[in-house]
Amino acid sequence: MKDSFGRDIYYLRMSVTNRCNLRCVYCMPEGCSDWGDKEGILSIDEIVEIVRAASVCGIKKIRLTGGEPLVRADIVEICRRVSETPGITELCLTTNGILLPKFVDELKTSGVTRLNISLDSLDPVTYKDITRNGTLEGALSGVYAALDRGFKAVKINAVLIGGVNDNEILSLLELTRKHNAHVRFIEMMPIGETADWAETRFVSVDKVKEIASELVEIGSEGVAQLYRLPDGLGTVGLISPISSHFCPTCNRIRVASDGKLKPCLHSPDEIDLRGLSGKALEDAIHLAIYDKPFKHKLDDGHVSESMRNMNEIGG
Ligand code: GTP
Ligand code: 5AD
Ligand code: SF4
Repeated sequence: MKDSFGRDIYYLRMSVTNRCNLRCVYCMPEGCSDWGDKEGILSIDEIVEIVRAASVCGIKKIRLTGGEPLVRADIVEICRRVSETPGITELCLTTNGILLPKFVDELKTSGVTRLNISLDSLDPVTYKDITRNGTLEGALSGVYAALDRGFKAVKINAVLIGGVNDNEILSLLELTRKHNAHVRFIEMMPIGETADWAETRFVSVDKVKEIASELVEIGSEGVAQLYRLPDGLGTVGLISPISSHFCPTCNRIRVASDGKLKPCLHSPDEIDLRGLSGKALEDAIHLAIYDKPFKHKLDDGHVSESMRNMNEIGG
């Protein structure tokens, strides 16, 4: 359905858990383990009912995020039931990849059509520094497990961090030469408890264009401007929420892991969907879509007005 600014909103990002097996520096503060109790997280029935009601409001594409969605014991069942919901035509999942070798086949047979995998570095020491407790070997096993499995797309997300991984732009985009993988460079957004630190490490995606002169522009897809190496099998995407925000063409809403609907990633507005079902739930989602704010203010030098860390929202 259209919001009050005429934007077609058909994409729902659902965080199914705030827990994660990693602790990426731009996402969570060090030592974060205060997840709350499991009842704080939406149950599978609540998730499926929200997806059903959202579908009635015109949502067609669902992305399951976290935290890390694959740490949820019932994730395969969630995928199966969400993908069977009438009106849902795409089921996507964003993951850090560590648990993908174990789950990739079941995810495919349970209806997942697209996978996005976070991979910020190809250097084992830098990868460990960024994720605090992940191994590059584990993440790469996930990426390779996902390729050539028949997904419509496998995308690799690299958040640019000044002085940490911005010397790896060429090696990361090199992955697209031989693999049908889509590497996206993302500007780091100052949000939650890590906002002040993120501001000091900001790198614009323009740096990718400066360094990689070989890239040929081919258009845009979703929030990414798309490029290609002349002989590349995959594409290179630039996601610029700060230097050139994409709010005027935004097509999405979010539900955090505790059931609060966020019409905009960076707005403090939240609508509690818990306890609602049937027509009341449909009405709440309908109103939230209609009232979606027009833009965030990060490009005016502000940090996010969202009251959350990324692990509760899922990006
Ligand atoms: P596709 O369905 O493949 O287009 O995925 P996606 O880019 O929507 O999802 P993904 O989970 O891979 O997110 C990529 C990056 O874009 C993350 O850093 C997100 O935080 C960021 N992002 C996604 N949606 C929004 C948005 O609405 N606003 C802003 N500012 N950033 C977003
Ligand atoms: N800024 C930009 N991207 C972020 N992500 C997590 N936190 C941030 C942030 N502060 C990315 C993750 C993941 C995607 C869903 O969001 O790397 O790939
Ligand atoms: Fe976990 Fe993703 Fe946050 Fe990293 S960015 S800590 S992988 S939820």
